[in-house]
Amino acid sequence: MSGPVPKRSILEIEPYRAGRAAAPGVARPIKLSANENALGCSPAARAAYIEAADTLHLYSDPRANLLREALAARHGLDPARIVFGTGSDELFSMACQAYLAPGENIVQPQYAFAAWAIAARAVGGAVKSAPERDYTVDVDAMLAAVDAQTRILFVANPANPTGTCLPQSEIVRLHAGLPENVLLILDHAYAEFAEGEARELWALSEAPNVLITRTFSKLYGLAALRVGWGYACAGVAGVLNRIRLPFNLSVPAQAAALAALDDDAFVQRSVNHAKEARAELSALFEGFGWRPLPSAANFVTVRIPEGARLSVAEIDAALTARGILVRGLSPYRMPDCLRVSAGSFDELRQLRDALHEIVG
Ligand SMILES: Cc1ncc(COP(=O)(O)O)c(C=O)c1O
Repeated sequence: MSGPVPKRSILEIEPYRAGRAAAPGVARPIKLSANENALGCSPAARAAYIEAADTLHLYSDPRANLLREALAARHGLDPARIVFGTGSDELFSMACQAYLAPGENIVQPQYAFAAWAIAARAVGGAVKSAPERDYTVDVDAMLAAVDAQTRILFVANPANPTGTCLPQSEIVRLHAGLPENVLLILDHAYAEFAEGEARELWALSEAPNVLITRTFSKLYGLAALRVGWGYACAGVAGVLNRIRLPFNLSVPAQAAALAALDDDAFVQRSVNHAKEARAELSALFEGFGWRPLPSAANFVTVRIPEGARLSVAEIDAALTARGILVRGLSPYRMPDCLRVSAGSFDELRQLRDALHEIVG
């Protein structure tokens, strides 16, 4: 007897590996491994979270109506077409549950956010990866990968783990080339950190086959509270809401997100910080002869060239020994790359000092 037997597709899933949070022997490591907000969160959000402690015995509003109305007003959207998830991660799972069956597939770029494939495989779907060009999504390759069994195409702009970004016109072209029965999931987890037009693409959500996802985890610094949301046509939103668990956003999460949304000063500071920090990181890496990818997000991914004095694993280990946690990208099949979050300026100073010590 070996106990219950899971579906074979489940055993094919490589479990998600979160950015490391602990360094052996270091009480408070510098965590630059998960693209979190270096500035923390809005003080107003923190206060709202604490105030919510008075109502922990109550279920949350299942439709998160206050947050829904506030988001709709802020972005000029139809509140009825917003779908909430416990993080945008849950929206990817809901979309796969709703639209993907065994024998069907998703298409994603070569370097893709790991949660998408997990969501697809969890429902027995297959994953097709389209080659990228210079670590940037290649729209033609994505479209060429779509076949009769494709039900969902995932793309993040800016992308994780590369940080690269396509112009809006390329996303529009990608959508235009898709059959209407393929759902385009445009993952905008980092959109606010991008420049200009790449930040918004709500018009695309008027189509019957587009789901745009956003998160409070990055820009608003509320990763711990798991607040994601999606925007789609009424049909797709209605389908996702059928399978959404009723109280998926907790009372403190709704309260904090609502308060965060109103703190324009914090949002602006977060965007400015990400831009300055990624410029600083890129310059630091270039100084060592490394090759940072152009980032439009709140992190920089850097290639360590062949023949460099130290390998990715050696740099990663030496940083970890000094209590600095970055992300080696072997699990993303980018073994020559490290991904480093836009930490605070003090954290980046410590990173710079450590790297000078390590690399010389
Ligand atoms: C591209 C991308 N999408 C989505 C997410 C997940 O966001 P959330 O915290 O809302 O689940 C991440 C988190 O790192 C991400 O990199």
